[in-house]
Amino acid sequence: MSESKLDERELRNALGGFATGVCVVTTRRPDGKREGLTVNSFSSVSLAPPIVLWNLSLRAPSAQAFRDAEYFAINVLAADQQEISQRFSRPAADKFDGIEEALVEGLGGVPLIEGAVARFECRVHQLNDVGDHLVLFGQVERFDQRDREPLLYHRGRYRSLTE
Ligand SMILES: Cc1cc2nc3c(=O)[nH]c(=O)nc-3n(C[C@H](O)[C@H](O)[C@H](O)COP(=O)(O)O)c2cc1C
Repeated sequence: MSESKLDERELRNALGGFATGVCVVTTRRPDGKREGLTVNSFSSVSLAPPIVLWNLSLRAPSAQAFRDAEYFAINVLAADQQEISQRFSRPAADKFDGIEEALVEGLGGVPLIEGAVARFECRVHQLNDVGDHLVLFGQVERFDQRDREPLLYHRGRYRSLTE
């Protein structure tokens, strides 16, 4: 079937059948401003060297900040962090305002979210423009993890393993 024959709504529905975890990707701009957004496009790519990727919409207000970034962090959210996910999935002047107690500073001054299931601190390895998204590959320089229930996403809804 040719590309133009695909129904975008149907395609979105079909893609939504792929259950994922939920992450907040964070960075810090050279002027000090923190940026972050909720993503479910995170994936591991390589173990040696340790490379991960995620996809960023070119239409996202934060797109330029991540295109220019040297470091970013992937914060894999826990089941009790749905509010954090919602906060970071809407444009805002400062998404970090009011959650200082849940933040620590990582490599490159990038904010890390406390209570996450896992955190991967990455140096940008490669960027690829693909269609309407930017694919960001990061080399993991530091990571940590804790034994917590993950937040899940499926068919446009948050889920948990124990549901
Ligand atoms: C569960 C979930 C997953 C998402 N995954 C992505 C993603 O992989 N890439 C992306 O660019 N936006 C994704 N979004 C949308 C962004 O979070 C949203 O557009 C956000 O406002 C972008 O941040 P910004 O406005 O600061 O640029 C997702 C939203 C949700 C709720």
